[in-house]
Amino acid sequence: MHILRRFDKTCKIISNKEICAGYFELKVKISNISKQCVPGQFFMIGMQGVFLRRPLSIYDFKNGMLSFLYKVVGKGTDILSKMQSGELRFLGPLGNGYNLETYKDLNNTIVAGGTGIASVHFLATKLKKKGVLYYGARSKKDLLCLDKFKKMGWKIMVSTEDGSKGYKGYITDILEKKIESKDVLFTCGPTQMQKKVLQIAREKNIKAFASLEEKMACGVGNCQGCAVKIDGQIKMVCKDGPVFRLDQVGL
Ligand SMILES: Cc1cc2nc3c(=O)[nH]c(=O)nc-3n(C[C@H](O)[C@H](O)[C@H](O)COP(=O)(O)OP(=O)(O)OC[C@H]3O[C@@H](n4cnc5c(N)ncnc54)[C@H](O)[C@@H]3O)c2cc1C
Ligand code: FES
Repeated sequence: MHILRRFDKTCKIISNKEICAGYFELKVKISNISKQCVPGQFFMIGMQGVFLRRPLSIYDFKNGMLSFLYKVVGKGTDILSKMQSGELRFLGPLGNGYNLETYKDLNNTIVAGGTGIASVHFLATKLKKKGVLYYGARSKKDLLCLDKFKKMGWKIMVSTEDGSKGYKGYITDILEKKIESKDVLFTCGPTQMQKKVLQIAREKNIKAFASLEEKMACGVGNCQGCAVKIDGQIKMVCKDGPVFRLDQVGL
């Protein structure tokens, strides 16, 4: 069990660089959370000019440096992308991350779509057995950090919707053909992709964990804004998830 020492404080921006068109990597120096960040957890990040904080997954955490990988999609992420220095307010680490212990003997398989790659990147650094990454995006320019996964020793299968790199179509088309019963799946990405991944896992009786994404306002279970039905019960993605076991999720 991980003991979480959550904090709410301002942290200094170390860098906030556009790594490719529309995608940024934010690095901040953070103290007092030492080893307690678990892959799949996230922070609520506050910035001036928007009322609510925005949730971003932990992309990496080492030597007291916390990194986030994000896409500019609206007002909050646009303001964030323009901040080259100064301070931001951080609440976290929040939520329950991926379970790395339960299926240690199985082959680790990661399935990511779009910016879901941020959360599974941190996971990939922590899994001892490097397996296969299945990664789908709209176009070649939306495929991020492939070099990092390669360097870590992950085998990579990619797909793009426009066919500019890898298989033309959805990553789940490849996954369906290749997945084996001795795999354990970790998935993060758009809801439609996750639905298909979980359908494949169910049909083939494969263990799986899914990180769900819902619009969030508070991030700590107070506003009920991220409610979903899990196991016939209402759960908060921010507090009870964002990572759930396949057999719990009703997608
Ligand atoms: C647990 C979690 C982890 C996430 N991790 C990442 C990540 O690592 N990288 C990344 O690029 N994106 C991530 N997202 C999505 C990211 O939070 C949204 O893209 C961002 O909040 C959009 O804010 P905005 O002001 O730019 O857009 P707007 O559309 O203007 O946002 C308006 C409001 O809706 C909320 N909102 C909008 N889209 C989402 C969304 N998809 N999920 C949750 N709330 C949303 C915002 O927080 C805000 O309150 C994550 C979402 C969740 C729930
Ligand atoms: S975001 Fe408020 S309860 Fe989840």
